[in-house]
Amino acid sequence: MDTQQSPKQIRDPAVRVVLLPKDTNQHGTIFGGVILAHLDIAGGVEAAKHTDHPIVTVAMNQVVFKEPVHVGEVVSFYASTTKVGRTSVSVHMDVEACRGGKLVHVTAADLVYVSIDKNGVPRPLRP
Ligand SMILES: CC(C)(COP(=O)(O)OP(=O)(O)OC[C@H]1O[C@@H](n2cnc3c(N)ncnc32)[C@H](O)[C@@H]1OP(=O)(O)O)[C@@H](O)C(=O)NCCC(=O)NCCS
Repeated sequence: MDTQQSPKQIRDPAVRVVLLPKDTNQHGTIFGGVILAHLDIAGGVEAAKHTDHPIVTVAMNQVVFKEPVHVGEVVSFYASTTKVGRTSVSVHMDVEACRGGKLVHVTAADLVYVSIDKNGVPRPLRP
């Protein structure tokens, strides 16, 4: 592991996982949909800090996979709130894989979550 730490290494990820052979595509690298599922969960962990109500994902914007992820790599999902609206929270995500002691930036994405009531209708994040 590099001894010099980037800001992302210093802050805690919302989610950190090790990806397994069951997560691979036919080429042997990690299936993009698996990364999307973890992205969604990690972003939700961040968005849930802003409300006590259930939240749903309304948008996953511009997800670009810049690097593949390999079996056994530790993948970290970093989340930061970029906007708190009336019923919605926008979250920026960065995903890094640890490969051979170095951090590889896999993808970035912007997700939006909406607070809903029991009928699935948007409701204010806070009373
Ligand atoms: C999320 C959902 C309740 C929003 O309903 P809606 O009638 O479109 O809501 P509104 O137009 O009142 O918008 C609600 C908030 O979401 C935001 N929003 C809606 N669509 C958005 C989009 N495409 N991108 C970004 N934000 C969006 C609005 O800006 C608004 O935010 P604000 O209150 O903070 O200003 C509805 O679209 C839904 O149920 N979607 C399915 C959610 C789901 O099941 N996700 C899991 C994947 S299947």
